[in-house]
Parts: sequence; C-alpha cells; structure tokens
Amino acid sequence: MEKIPVIYWSGTGNTKLMAEAVAEGIGTAAVLKSVGDMTAEQAAGYSALALGCSAMGAEVLEEYEFEPFFTALEPLLQGKNVVIFGSYGWGGSYMNDWEQRVKAAGAELAAPGLLVLGAPDEAAVASCRELGAALTKA
Ligand SMILES: Cc1cc2nc3c(=O)[nH]c(=O)nc-3n(C[C@H](O)[C@H](O)[C@H](O)COP(=O)(O)O)c2cc1C
Repeated sequence: MEKIPVIYWSGTGNTKLMAEAVAEGIGTAAVLKSVGDMTAEQAAGYSALALGCSAMGAEVLEEYEFEPFFTALEPLLQGKNVVIFGSYGWGGSYMNDWEQRVKAAGAELAAPGLLVLGAPDEAAVASCRELGAALTKA
C-alpha cells in the first residue's frame, strides 16, 4: 500500500489536531509529518498528499517553513491527488488562494480546502476525517 503523507505546519497546535484527524481518516496508509521533517522532493515521491497550514501573516501560508516548502513543491504537484486544510482566526481567505495554487500546479483537489476556526471541535474533527477519507477514494 502506498503511503499518504499528512504534512502540516501549526503554531499553537490547532492545525496539528486537524492533521491528526485527517490522518485517522486516511487510515493505515497515513504518515504524519511536521513540515520541517519532510522536504518537497521527498513529498513529491508520493502520488497523494494532505497538506495543512494555518492562516498566518496577512492571509498567507506561514512564511518561514511552510511557504518555502510549498513553493518548492508546486512545480512537482502535477497529476497528484491533494487535500489542503488549516485553522484560522478571523479571515480565512488564504485558503481560496491556496486552492488556486494547487489547481494551477496541475494537481487534483480531492475535496475543497477545509478551514476550521480555532481548535477543531467534534464536528470539525469529523470533517477532517472525511477529508482524509476523500483522499483515499480519489
Ligand atoms: C502571526 C499570526 C498571524 C495570523 N494571521 C491570520 C490571518 O491572516 N487570518 C486569520 O484568519 N487568522 C490569522 N491568525 C490566526 C491563526 O490562524 C489561528 O490562531 C489559528 O487557529 C492558528 O492555528 P495553528 O495553531 O495551527 O497555527 C494569525 C495568527 C498569528 C499568530
């Protein structure tokens, strides 16, 4: 069975909780990785990827670790199945921009990007699990 990495950045743990639930939805194929633990080249070795990052800066991906990782991954995303997710505090429009980048890179979004306000509650955890499951069916 091919592994499916769940690669995330999380400042206070909210997106990490989402990532754990996404991994549960994927099941035994899931490999949970903080973004610092996997290079873009390593990530590009998989045909399906779950990517998580909270809203940072002014409606952007976190700039010091996740954005450089994703910028390096973009040219390698062609034809891959991808889901994206993240926690936000007050806006969340970064998710639309991120979806556009994934699509422009030629990847297939297995489901719309999943935004959760703050820490995921029970319903949000269930949505994260569904997101992970969608990746296995893509
Ligand atoms: C420096 C900083 C910048 C942020 N910028 C945004 C933002 O532009 N839009 C937004 O909706 N939330 C923003 N937030 C709120 C976080 O996205 C929110 O607290 C989220 O739950 C953090 O998730 P995490 O623990 O996974 O990092 C910001 C938080 C910090 C600390």
